[in-house]
Amino acid sequence: MSNYADSSGNGNGVLLRAEHLTKLYPDGQVNALIDVSLEIHRGEYLAVMGPSGSGKSTLLNMLGALDRPTSGETYFEGRPMSHIPNWNRLRAQKIGFVFQSFYLLPVLSAMENVQVPMFESPLPASARARRAVELLEEVGLGHRIHHSPEKLSVGERQRVAIARALANDPVILLADEPTGNLDSKSALGVFDLFASLHRQQGMTIVLITHDDELGRRAERIVRMQDGQIRSDTPSPGPRVAAGTPPCESPVEAPAGLHIRPGVSSHRPKSILPPFAVPDRG
Ligand SMILES: Nc1ncnc2c1ncn2[C@@H]1O[C@H](COP(=O)(O)OP(=O)(O)OP(=O)(O)O)[C@@H](O)[C@H]1O
Ligand SMILES: [Mg+2]
Repeated sequence: MSNYADSSGNGNGVLLRAEHLTKLYPDGQVNALIDVSLEIHRGEYLAVMGPSGSGKSTLLNMLGALDRPTSGETYFEGRPMSHIPNWNRLRAQKIGFVFQSFYLLPVLSAMENVQVPMFESPLPASARARRAVELLEEVGLGHRIHHSPEKLSVGERQRVAIARALANDPVILLADEPTGNLDSKSALGVFDLFASLHRQQGMTIVLITHDDELGRRAERIVRMQDGQIRSDTPSPGPRVAAGTPPCESPVEAPAGLHIRPGVSSHRPKSILPPFAVPDRG
């Protein structure tokens, strides 16, 4: 029985709902998740934090239909995931993933990498290419569209991976330590990008990070320990240290500015905040 007011998961803008998830990895008999329940609303920007081994990636894998729980249920837009027959399609059409190791294809250019998830798209090739360029412009890489990953800085690679994650207009972006391989300046650039996606386009974002300061830039922080959620609180907001660029002031998304499938002209040309200069690696 659900304890939630909106037990259908349909109303109140609930996008994802995990209910009493457990995950037992038979390999080593690890209880990676123990009775984890969580609701994620549309448009929320949530950071998941906690020590190594606390179950953060395991939880993200359940939310992103990458793995099945041992027990419990996850609801995506109100539908129990265990009733959704084609998880590949769900992932391809609804979920954008960003990982610590960018997983770009080395033989493809930035523009081609961004088009990889569009392979099932009804768009003609020219429209896919145009869309890839637009997405790269949005992440500040309009000048690097023909570069292969090896010719990009690590921060730029991650921004290509983010553009790729946005290729099919996902309803949610799931990011597992996306800045784990980045220096602090590139990491800030990626976080500013997430903040802009959230504020300007209303993107729902779940972000795993070990970086306390960067986690505070989300609006809600879930802390995990030993496979359980220990706290779930609004973010206190970033500490502004001397020399740190100020966090963007909250801006309302302009009326009518929403992500719409295949209507990329509704996106602003660039979602980069003015202080987020492209990094040089
Ligand atoms: N495929 C697997 N088989 C067996 N045990 C696993 C597997 N994947 C993860 N675990 C174990 O489950 C627990 C939770 O792992 P998880 O990767 O979710 O932690 P995490 O919080 O993401 O850690 P980190 O911050 O280091 O990435 C750990 O004890 C880990 O060793
Ligand atoms: Mg992890």
